Amino acid sequence: MTDRELVHEAAAVSERAYAPYSRFNVGAALLLRDGRVITGVNVENAAYPLGVCAERAALARAVGEGVRPGDVEAIGITASPCGGCRQWMLEFGVDRVAFPHDGDLLVRTPAELLPHSFEL
Ligand code: THU
Repeated sequence: MTDRELVHEAAAVSERAYAPYSRFNVGAALLLRDGRVITGVNVENAAYPLGVCAERAALARAVGEGVRPGDVEAIGITASPCGGCRQWMLEFGVDRVAFPHDGDLLVRTPAELLPHSFEL
């Protein structure tokens, strides 16, 4: 699956987002090294800070399926990832992060998106 197709998968699933407060639907699609695709959407809450981003929802779902750092080849997102999600993608050793930006498809590494990052 190409990075462009992965972003299309993310766009398709974004319709299932639960975002009644921001009305900003986001979808994310992970391409695992074994070829599986695992998707996620943002899920908001009336207690605003409790909402979860699409990327983190997808990664949490993947971990529940047995995925570990190093198992994710690429992630397609319908929006530019927030700072917290950049840290999550770095943790999971994703090779490529693809998202639309100014009419283009940007493909970047997590390190490019989050330079000089925190590591324990
Ligand atoms: N959002 C994501 O799902 N991913 C991001 O990386 C950026 C922000 C969501 C969170 C919130 O539900 C909505 O977009 C508006 O901020």
